[in-house]
Amino acid sequence: MQRSGQKNLEACFYSFIGAKNMCGIIGYSGNREAAPILFSGLKNLEYRGYDSCGIATVHGNALHLKKDAGKIDEVHKKLSLDALPGKCGIAHTRWATHGSVTKENAHPHLSSSGKIAVVHNGIIENFQKQKDFLTSKGFVFNSDTDTEVIPNMMEYHMKKGYDFIEAAKRSLKHMEGQYAIVAVNDEGRMVAARKEAPLVVGVGNGEYFFASDVTAFLEHTKNAIFLEENDLAAIDGGLKIFNLDKNEFVERPVSKIQWDAEQARKGNFDHFFLKEIMEQAEVIERISKMDMKIIKEIAAEIRKAKGIFIVACGTASYACMTGLYLFSKIAKTHINFCLASEFRHFKHFLSDKSLIISVSQSGETADTLSAIRAAKSMGAKVISITNSEGSSLARESDRAIVHRAGPEIAVNATKTYTSQLAVLSLLAYELDNRLDDGLEELRDASRYIYYLTSDNARKFVKGLAEILKDKEHLYLIGKGLQYPTALEAALKIKEISYIHAEAFAAGELKHGTLALVSEGTPCIAFTSEETESEMLNSIMEVKARGAFVIGIGPKRSRAFDFFIKVHEAGDFNPIVQIIPMQILAYQLALLRGCDPDKPRNLAKSVVVK
Ligand code: F6R
Repeated sequence: MQRSGQKNLEACFYSFIGAKNMCGIIGYSGNREAAPILFSGLKNLEYRGYDSCGIATVHGNALHLKKDAGKIDEVHKKLSLDALPGKCGIAHTRWATHGSVTKENAHPHLSSSGKIAVVHNGIIENFQKQKDFLTSKGFVFNSDTDTEVIPNMMEYHMKKGYDFIEAAKRSLKHMEGQYAIVAVNDEGRMVAARKEAPLVVGVGNGEYFFASDVTAFLEHTKNAIFLEENDLAAIDGGLKIFNLDKNEFVERPVSKIQWDAEQARKGNFDHFFLKEIMEQAEVIERISKMDMKIIKEIAAEIRKAKGIFIVACGTASYACMTGLYLFSKIAKTHINFCLASEFRHFKHFLSDKSLIISVSQSGETADTLSAIRAAKSMGAKVISITNSEGSSLARESDRAIVHRAGPEIAVNATKTYTSQLAVLSLLAYELDNRLDDGLEELRDASRYIYYLTSDNARKFVKGLAEILKDKEHLYLIGKGLQYPTALEAALKIKEISYIHAEAFAAGELKHGTLALVSEGTPCIAFTSEETESEMLNSIMEVKARGAFVIGIGPKRSRAFDFFIKVHEAGDFNPIVQIIPMQILAYQLALLRGCDPDKPRNLAKSVVVK
């Protein structure tokens, strides 16, 4: 009794570790040396996880493995990850928040005999049951991970006489949970499979790549096959794709990726976070020039719908919240905003006339996907706004607007947030039959961003960061369109500088949080022509308690101790006002010695619930 209780506890504990495990995986099979390709692919996937990493290659009928805890550069310095022999291999970069960041728990994981290696992204929920079974059959486990049951289960089936690919098929049927895996054996056979976790195949010239996303192989090929749910792809005299549900071979289309490898590199910038901030003027201008047919068609769907929900997580949810204000103000259209993770509680209001608009940079966020699946189960139509062509979200939606901000490598969103805002603003303008006006204003916004990201503007914001760098708490207030802007600004500051930042609708401050404002408390106030006079009341309330007030907006006020001038951009204020806040978060991170690209405890694609 006690033993099984203990086991349940362990199962919970490890599934918790697993649940936090987002990870990046890559496999290569071709005619070139695998290790350097895997190593550079791993570097491109580092934003997905950076606690530990490893590479396994195949040479001379044996697997060669290097892995350890630490960031990729640290491990590489110790082990020379790119120096392994063979033309076939797999690699992994791991993300876990718990204590078990160890060499043993780093991937790839080997089967007991050392003949099969596996990298895995996701959770095997029933791993304990599998582990007990395999242990009873004499298999030995060397890590605490759920993943290790996969190579061992494959080996178990191979021992029963099945070949490598059949063994993979049979093993995966036992696995409950979510996974994207790549497995390789000592003969250089390779198989990859996915279930509720992303996996894409890169098709090169006589070579194949399997990866969590296209950035891992973009420098080698732009031809990609996005695997579908329960697909298993194997190199078996060429690429073969088998669907485990249908139990048959399937054809999947090859897509041409629009991004190029250069976009996924840091170039002359110290950090991706800064590079991506700087790209925004161009990205917004590009959106203003995209084919507006899709905006018009989706606006027509919105007009027809009876009951609209807009759902997303994190930063994307603040874009949605801004959409709520924009649709109300510009298009006089009522939509309901809901955090994707909370959406299932509202699905009872859906019918086949309802419309769900889901917003996600990655298109792989588990909470967002589960929200749209719940909506679809009620017959609702789903439209998505995403940066990731071929993502699960794009594929599972009835229609998708892919805004092509380019690869966003820094863990925290910048250019994809402003892109999402741009798309939502254009939809609102089209709903009001004023798309051309919207486009003109969007182009103006892009010019303002250009100014706000100039050297001088950045230096000016750095001055503010110097003042705030040792503060423990910071408050942000805004009204109307500026309220979600304040929420997003607070999130940016929290996640990369680790300063506690909290945002409020300005009118709410006096209903409680004002108690925390005292002499010198920094308070950032977003203003606009529309909200100026109302905002002034809230600003005076904090000022009267001794707050250090930082104003952001078109007009200076005597109440401000520090002022960042931002052009009045009307309905496009959210797109421009967030820019100095992204820069502030960046500068605060640097001054406080934090890594702006890879903040602690966070991963870019949250592919588990
Ligand atoms: C914050 C951030 C996250 C994401 C959230 C949703 O900077 O990046 O809050 O916005 O995890 O991710 P996507 O947009 O990929 O669904």
